[in-house]
Order: sequence, then C-alpha cells, then structure tokens
Amino acid sequence: MNILITGASGFIGQHIAKRLLSAGHSIVSIDRRHGHDFNQLTAKKAWLPLLINVDVVINCVGIITETRQQSFSVLHHRAPAALFHACVEAGIKRVIQISALGADEQAISHYHLSKKAADDVLRSLNLGWFVLRPSLVYGSGGKSMAMFKRLARLPVLPLMDGGNQIIQPIHINDLTETVLKCLTSDQSKLTLDLVGAYSLSFIDWLQLMRNAENKSPARVIPIPFSLVLGLSRFTQHILPIANPDNLRMLRKGNFADAKPLADFLGHAPMDIKTGWSQF
Ligand SMILES: NC(=O)c1ccc[n+]([C@@H]2O[C@H](COP(=O)([O-])OP(=O)(O)OC[C@H]3O[C@@H](n4cnc5c(N)ncnc54)[C@H](OP(=O)(O)O)[C@@H]3O)[C@@H](O)[C@H]2O)c1
Repeated sequence: MNILITGASGFIGQHIAKRLLSAGHSIVSIDRRHGHDFNQLTAKKAWLPLLINVDVVINCVGIITETRQQSFSVLHHRAPAALFHACVEAGIKRVIQISALGADEQAISHYHLSKKAADDVLRSLNLGWFVLRPSLVYGSGGKSMAMFKRLARLPVLPLMDGGNQIIQPIHINDLTETVLKCLTSDQSKLTLDLVGAYSLSFIDWLQLMRNAENKSPARVIPIPFSLVLGLSRFTQHILPIANPDNLRMLRKGNFADAKPLADFLGHAPMDIKTGWSQF
C-alpha cells in the first residue's frame, strides 16, 4: 500500500514508517522537514494534491505545548480536519489518527480537547477510521522518555504529590503493531485506547528507570499539587512542558482497560519490565 504519514519525522511517525516499510509498504512523508507545514494546510484543497495515489493516511502530528507559531487549534484540529475531509473526497479507504489517552468526554486540557475535536470530525465521516489513543509511549528516540530519564537520574526527586499519579505506558512496538493491524482489520470505525499491560505510579516508573541503570531508589520529596501549580506559572517559562494544563493532566492520571487492545492484537500488550528490556 501507499501510505501517507504526517509527522513522519517524529518519534511515533518514524517508528511507524520503519515498521510499514519493513512490511513492504511505501511511505509518503508529511512534516516540515519535507516542506509541509500544517499551518499552511488548513483547507481541504491544500491536501488534495498530496493524496493522489495514496491508499491509507496516518496522522501523527502533535505538540505538547503551544508556542506563538504552533497552536493546538491548528495542529491538532483544523489541519487534521481539513485532511480528513480531503480523504473522503479523494476516496481514501482508511485513516488512522494518533490521538491521545484522555481525549474523551471528560477531557479538560486544551491539548486533549483539541485532539478530541479532530477525532470527532474523523468519527463523523464515511470512511474506515481508527482513532488510537496512546498513553505515554516509550521506546528508543522518544523525547519525553529522554526527559523522564534525565529526571530519574537525580539523586533526590522533588515530585508533585510524591509522584503518586497513575500511568500505563505502552511500548512503541505495541503501538506500531496496532497500526499495522489497522491496515487490514475487518473492524473499522474503531476507537482504541493504547496502554501497556499494567498501570503503575509515576514514581515507580522513575524508580524502574533508575533500576535499569543500576541506581538505587531515589529519595522522594513530595510537593503539594497546589504549590507546584502556583510555581508553574513562573517555571513554565523555563520548562514549557511543566505548564498548569500538563500538570493537571498528569495529576488526573493516564490509564485504561488493556483488554480491548489485547483483543484487537490477539495478545496482551507488553508489561513494563518486558518492554524496558527491549530498548
Ligand atoms: N509520545 C507520546 O508519549 C505520546 C502519547 C500520546 C499521544 N501522542 C501523540 O502522538 C503524536 C506523535 O507524537 P510524537 O511523540 O511522535 O511527537 P514528536 O516526536 O514531537 O513528533 C511530532 C511530529 O509533528 C510534526 N510537526 C510538528 N509541527 C508541525 C507542523 N507545523 N507541520 C507539520 N508537521 C509538524 C513534527 O515534524 P517537524 O517538526 O519535522 O515538522 C514531528 O514529525 C502526537 O499527536 C502526540 O500528541 C504521543
């Protein structure tokens, strides 16, 4: 198949492209490195020339914090919505949207709401669609993984509420396998939460990273959420990812039932210890 991947230069996009290439598919890459900026692709007609001879579209563009040039509204909603409408017009049979766990009815952050807005557009269209909602994705090359690893190496960990937030990371190989399966699955019009086999607390996740580097567990200094939130109004200028919205998302936790994914794949997704040994 000829598969168009947006965000093909990113962590998830690169892994998907590699897996699809090794399965014999050909790839059309859409990102700024290949001269395509979502800020200029907010109209259906801008997408149509890019969809000639394309069989499947996978959208992997996303940001975790906004800047003046990069807004959630355009990157997560308006450009993908234009792409999805263009897919209907171009007769594309399948569209796979990489959304995010939490982009649901309970969403409160701008990040999740903008993702959900695009997911809703896709779900309303008459084509084969898959909305994949990953939890935290780990594997080689992930930016957030690199950041968490740096954090985990600190001898003392000052963490919001002691790091008791529940997360359920998924290994990148389980994500790419799911995407591969979506290409041929009889099921379509499917929203699927992509999570690992088990959930764990954020602090246990960090201590596991230390363990993998033969470091003893770090001392934890719990910082109350209200204090972290107050400080973030200043510290977000130095560390944009630690903005109030992202802190609220972390506090809410990021976990889901792994059974629907296991049923779709035909096996359970990897648990953290197995996944950890694979990169
Ligand atoms: N990683 C995770 O743990 C995780 C978890 C849940 C959901 N997700 C979602 O999965 C998707 C991919 O995440 P990721 O970790 O692969 O992110 P990433 O490594 O930061 O990649 C983002 C991609 O978006 C592209 N992009 C950014 N701005 C663009 C623009 N204006 N026009 C065109 N392309 C643009 C980037 O390419 P250029 O910069 O080269 O243009 C890059 O290819 C995102 O939607 C993210 O929200 C990720």
